[in-house]
Amino acid sequence: MVYRIGLFLWLAVTCLGAAQANAETGTVVRVLFGGTGSPDIHQQVADMFMEENPDITVELLDGPQTTDELLATYLQFFNSESPEVDVIQTDVTWPGLIGDFLLDLNEYGAQEITGSHLTKLVENNTVDDKLLAVPWFTDVGILYYRTDLLEDYGYEAPPATWAELEEMAVAIQEGERGDEGNEDFWGFVFQGRPYEGLTVDALEWVASHGGGTILDEDGNVTVNNEQSVEALERARGWIDTISPLGVNDYAEEEARNTWQAGRAAFMRNWPYAYTLSNAEGSPTEGLVGIAPLPAGEGGESAGVLGGWGLAVSKFSENPEAAAKVALYFASPEVQKLRAVEESFTPTIASLFEDAEITEANPFYDVVRPALDLAVSRPGAAAGAAYLEVSRAFYGAVSELLQDPEADTAESLAALEITLNELLEESE
Ligand code: GLC
Repeated sequence: MVYRIGLFLWLAVTCLGAAQANAETGTVVRVLFGGTGSPDIHQQVADMFMEENPDITVELLDGPQTTDELLATYLQFFNSESPEVDVIQTDVTWPGLIGDFLLDLNEYGAQEITGSHLTKLVENNTVDDKLLAVPWFTDVGILYYRTDLLEDYGYEAPPATWAELEEMAVAIQEGERGDEGNEDFWGFVFQGRPYEGLTVDALEWVASHGGGTILDEDGNVTVNNEQSVEALERARGWIDTISPLGVNDYAEEEARNTWQAGRAAFMRNWPYAYTLSNAEGSPTEGLVGIAPLPAGEGGESAGVLGGWGLAVSKFSENPEAAAKVALYFASPEVQKLRAVEESFTPTIASLFEDAEITEANPFYDVVRPALDLAVSRPGAAAGAAYLEVSRAFYGAVSELLQDPEADTAESLAALEITLNELLEESE
């Protein structure tokens, strides 16, 4: 006992001493992450880094969950030119939006490692030859389905089209509610809250019906077309039939919670939900199937490209150390850890061949081709106006989902006018 107390005191004094020495003589790098990653894993990575780099202390700050809230948080720091945050995570749509606040990581050693990352992500994060963020993980929209329920209800394969999904969702929901008495059971959950996630989901509906990507590559507004109307009419039909009314306020985590509680047959989400859904004791453990998102009539499956990079604020007082931290968090070693532990999809091509990663994530055989075919949001075409374009789009879609009286064609015609005005103003 005495020995234990002695050891404890020794440890406490030594650790405290080390921390103080670090704070006094070393460099502190503050990293602000949010989103769906586990803070415990971030801490584990920070500890691994500090062990290799005892002269740098990494402090992790907790940020909000959705991309919209994270952007607002970072902008507060940037707008006040604050050095309080050194390393941030950047969504794929952000390089054109916040690039002015970020350092060129090619000047801090990134040039040597970008060749190993998926080219399209490096290109996405490069503006005027500057690498504004090193790719950290990639994302693509996928369909989650309950393997047990599909089998119980006699379906041999997941739905290839939205019409098939609707048919299966109705049958399974009726069966689960009626015979199984599971009144809270729903056919399909997705992200319907008015935020960036709805832009993603609705773009998947529209693109999979052949309705384009809101703007074309040259920045022309294309959203007002018959296929878009058809896609959005279809989605409106889900509300309060196969999808709960509450889906109108679901982001990723709300959808996952309903799904993971065993209360949905299908879910649209990103790959991160796979490990969590299969966690020991989860009602969906071992019952998770993954497929490409369904296609619309005459269209093709269209998962939207998502994903994040790591960037260094230009207001950082320790850019060298901050870049070192960012590159470490994006390194093969860390990407592997996060892929195995949390199914975050790597951005380093060779990791898709890594046996431990593919064993932990057998569904990467769906993710990899979906990534190659992924549809991009019109970030490049909209440039600095992307945020407003996205807001106008998800605002219009949210209204359509919420108001059964609204007219889809009229709403898209109005959206077209708004988007044209927005783009003209931003020129
Ligand atoms: C995920 C994606 C990101 C997207 C966001 C929308 O985090 O990786 O690209 O913007 O979801 O909610």
